[in-house]
Amino acid sequence: MAFLADALKRVKPSATITITQKARDLKAQGKDVISLSVGEPDFDTPDNIKEAAIAAIRRGETKYTPVPGIPQLREAITRKLKRENGLDYKASQTIVGTGGKHVIYNALLATLNPGDEVICVAPYWVSYPEIVALCGGTATFAQTHLKDDFKLQPEELEKAITPKTKWVILNSPSNPSGAAYSHDELKKLTEVLMRHPHVWVLTDDMYEHLTYGDFKFVTPAQIEPGLYERTLTMNGVSKAYAMTGWRIGYAAGPEHLIKAMDLVQGQQTSGTSAISQWAAVEALDGTQEHLPVFKKAFERRRDLVVSMLNQTRGLKCPTPEGAFYVYPDCSELIGKTMPNGKKIETDEDLVIGLLEAEAVAAVHGSSFGLGPNFRISYATSDEKLEEACRRIQRFCAELR
Ligand SMILES: Cc1ncc(COP(=O)(O)O)c(C=O)c1O
Repeated sequence: MAFLADALKRVKPSATITITQKARDLKAQGKDVISLSVGEPDFDTPDNIKEAAIAAIRRGETKYTPVPGIPQLREAITRKLKRENGLDYKASQTIVGTGGKHVIYNALLATLNPGDEVICVAPYWVSYPEIVALCGGTATFAQTHLKDDFKLQPEELEKAITPKTKWVILNSPSNPSGAAYSHDELKKLTEVLMRHPHVWVLTDDMYEHLTYGDFKFVTPAQIEPGLYERTLTMNGVSKAYAMTGWRIGYAAGPEHLIKAMDLVQGQQTSGTSAISQWAAVEALDGTQEHLPVFKKAFERRRDLVVSMLNQTRGLKCPTPEGAFYVYPDCSELIGKTMPNGKKIETDEDLVIGLLEAEAVAAVHGSSFGLGPNFRISYATSDEKLEEACRRIQRFCAELR
């Protein structure tokens, strides 16, 4: 009898973590590695949020909390959704989990039966298909294209929907492409979804606040109220508040779904860290003055990286609207040979070659379901980014 669960056979380890580990190993050998593979801001959590957490500890807010979150945070979430997204939710329609990933996991665990399909839009965040598999569902894929700046077109969404589709996961701005949908672009997708009333929408709005220029963020339930009853709007504080280690994510949706997620969470983690929840209340309700600072830095870095990559032989890189990733196409480099004589057959060969030759860690596109591409996270200093792009330019120039 096998010891490990069959479900594990369908789950792959995170490619991001694998590359990050390889980069760490090279660093330990003394190499000057520039890591552009991790998905977290290089900024520190703003002080007002840290102070709120310290005050919570001093007040003795250190006990179990209600499973779906402390009432103060659930109320703060309803205020945030009203203020920023024009969405009306009651506190009972919200739930707080241990990071956005956990919230997605619980939503799918609470709803998927064997055979249920979940559409992931490629390139997708690496965890979606794996979470779907762990929850016993089947991940299916809708493709995007470089010519559309990796934004899903309505025909592709329509094509991906089957009678077995239970959810479609939308993610704008996207990890890994940074692509974000304008009102009109998203409206075209919600029109498709209105024609398929059996499909639920899980919108991952984790990068909502990280958009640049005059881009205006929108979320599905806001622009199509007809979807309100079958949309789970998920968000968190990890990225925009530089709180990846605090592990707070949340979602709002129909009460029956939230109750089901509450049931799952109650037998799993219970409520998440009380201290982190108090910190998140301050993140949502408190001053947002750090945000323009983050955004300005990210926008400058995006422009630097996109410009340098587009001056690189064999790379094509659209300018994404948000997040802190770019996703250059490297199809022209496939089939070329590196100075060490190795041929580049895949985008994975390319990122491994780049790491070994130039000590720059990026993540190959095939792990996000669309390639040949690679993902660069520009959540690091301008100096490091400039040096990394110079190394990428040299690496690509030396291919034959
Ligand atoms: C698109 C997307 N959704 C969700 C998450 C998960 O966030 P958290 O750290 O809050 O679990 C991430 C983190 O990388 C992400 O990129």
